[in-house]
Amino acid sequence: MQAVIGNWKQNPATSTDVTALLDALLDNIACDDALNPEHSNCQIMVAPSCIHLYQAADKLKNSPILCAAQDISAHSSTTGAFTGDCSATQIKDSGASFCILGHSERRQYHQESNAMLLNKMQHAMNKDLGVILCIGEKEDEHKDGQTLNILDDQLSVVQDFIQNNPEMTEALTKKLIIAYEPVWAIGTGKVPTVDEVTQIHAHIKQTLSGVDNRLADLSVLYGGSVNADNASEFAKSEMIDGALVGGASLKADSFLAIVRAFSRS
Ligand code: 13P
Repeated sequence: MQAVIGNWKQNPATSTDVTALLDALLDNIACDDALNPEHSNCQIMVAPSCIHLYQAADKLKNSPILCAAQDISAHSSTTGAFTGDCSATQIKDSGASFCILGHSERRQYHQESNAMLLNKMQHAMNKDLGVILCIGEKEDEHKDGQTLNILDDQLSVVQDFIQNNPEMTEALTKKLIIAYEPVWAIGTGKVPTVDEVTQIHAHIKQTLSGVDNRLADLSVLYGGSVNADNASEFAKSEMIDGALVGGASLKADSFLAIVRAFSRS
């Protein structure tokens, strides 16, 4: 399945802005069947910041757009003394159906490790919350030719999850999306070539099917400076199943142009 997901990060500033952005998305989709996931086979999702999650999920209820959180607590899947955290249960209760895990900004600013990500993945799956697992190499790792080693290490979380929870493998095939986001491409305007992304996605898919062949068909999205102008190039590759979009997801026009690009392919 194709998917285009807007990671709003710490945006927008106010709940009024959230309403305006969601209204613009919903109005456009209502007048253009080609954007409706029921017709286009391209799932649309947005990941607002936690403070706006209830509001966004409520507005998107009964719409074709899904809602995702940007993180969940590693410590508990329910309740507890974990100041500042939101659990998988709370996120699910907000109306979100997915969570982003392992975004490079969480790895960088919150020291998110593979061990923490394994806990988070277990909490998410136990509460029937889908996972968008972000992986990607930093610029120096890219220059040193370490990309595939870094990705393999980050993907080992999936292998560990399956080793610990073999009975959940089938559920994982429906609930896991991988997003390849080279850190050096995020917010920089620099992008790898479509051929480079294609080869890396082929490696990711091969690695996952080596873990369990039921994972062979997982969607692998590309993220990092995707915009209305370059999306259709990425969409031409059979190995690129969609996009995880930051900056360009904050305006309905640019976000929906990216959705359109992947809906056509
Ligand atoms: P940009 O699209 O702003 O480069 O951000 C990508 C990203 O980090 C999405 O998760």
